[in-house]
Amino acid sequence: MHTRRAFLAASAAAPAVLRGASTRTLDEIEKILASGNVKGRLTREDIPTPALMLDLDAFEHNVARMTKHLKDNGKAFRPHGKTHKCAEIARRLIQAGAVGACAAKISEAEAFAREGIGGLLVTSAPVGRLKIERALRLARLKPDTIFSVDNAQNVRELNDAAGAARIKFNLAVDLAVSSRTGITPGEPGAALAQLISTQPNLVFKGIQAYAGHSSHVIGFEARRKSSQEAMGRAVETRRMIESRGIECKWLSGGSTGTYNIDSSIDGITELQPGSFMFMDVDYNRIGGQDGEVYRDFKNSLTVATTVISKPADDAAIVDGGLKAFSTDKPFTPVAKGIDNLPYNWAGDEHGKLNLARASRAVNLGDRIEFVIPHCDPSVNLYDRMFCLRGDTVEAVWRITARGLSQ
Ligand SMILES: Cc1ncc(COP(=O)(O)O)c(C=O)c1O
Repeated sequence: MHTRRAFLAASAAAPAVLRGASTRTLDEIEKILASGNVKGRLTREDIPTPALMLDLDAFEHNVARMTKHLKDNGKAFRPHGKTHKCAEIARRLIQAGAVGACAAKISEAEAFAREGIGGLLVTSAPVGRLKIERALRLARLKPDTIFSVDNAQNVRELNDAAGAARIKFNLAVDLAVSSRTGITPGEPGAALAQLISTQPNLVFKGIQAYAGHSSHVIGFEARRKSSQEAMGRAVETRRMIESRGIECKWLSGGSTGTYNIDSSIDGITELQPGSFMFMDVDYNRIGGQDGEVYRDFKNSLTVATTVISKPADDAAIVDGGLKAFSTDKPFTPVAKGIDNLPYNWAGDEHGKLNLARASRAVNLGDRIEFVIPHCDPSVNLYDRMFCLRGDTVEAVWRITARGLSQ
């Protein structure tokens, strides 16, 4: 089947099955983790499961590839922090050349801001009194923060609140180039930009345009057509804003699936992909420019589980279920390092493996790592990720904005 074959080819190099071979006691492991001084002192097998594991070589490859591509194509890079929710990753991306970070919600942005991350773009609108109060706090802490809006009433309320607080809000017009938030591209978007630019306490920064429906279109040519059509409407709106005499220097959008399409669209100034750093089952299946397999980015993120039961010769239960992998997709986790090992959901805490055609034996106590169906909501389930160089733990990164969805 296309999906599975494509995925297996992409993940073939992975090691990922280990017997529970840790030689450290639980006390030792916990002391090392609590000390924060982990580098070289723990191995993959020492990490209690379920756990979020990051392969640093693959992660660094992904970051280097995206950074280079955008630099070579003259686009700024503001990766979306909704994927990683981790201040340490946001810092590394900025070191690699990003101009800042996107955040899906204000609370996520606050978590980054408190850790010193600037250049924030909040991609959901701050609507309602409490959200606006929160936006004021964030703007005071990081005055360069840009907030997305798609509604005239919200714009007026933000202007009034900023005036009363004697600050200025930087605003971007969120365009509905997909089917979620945003104002209609064209005249409605241009009129909202004009409204912002005439308010005394607001600064019009430009356009936010995320074409989410394009990013997972299977097949490169179909994806290109979809993204060019959607983002073309954003570019056209930018032109209409400028024809009203309003400076519109900035247009941000794009995703992992469309990065090498949007990077050659004139008029887009900045890309905001997120999943590329980790990848997931959903993205593995979209196909690349050079064929059926999307090879541009490696699978750097897995969830490690343990086989805790063998109810039959051809069945095994692992300790990772819906509370270890959160997804809205119709795919299940895919084992790394063992072929033909279908995973089926077996409730909140468990997954059931069908061993009938598995490429190797699966025994009680085995550790099996899985590529995640959908990376963003799964990362949000964990307090920390274990960063590995080969089989050695090099660092533990806190998921700073874990659970922050306000
Ligand atoms: C507004 C916005 N921008 C960018 C992204 C990044 O997309 P991807 O993770 O597909 O690269 C997302 C993801 O959902 C998003 O919601």
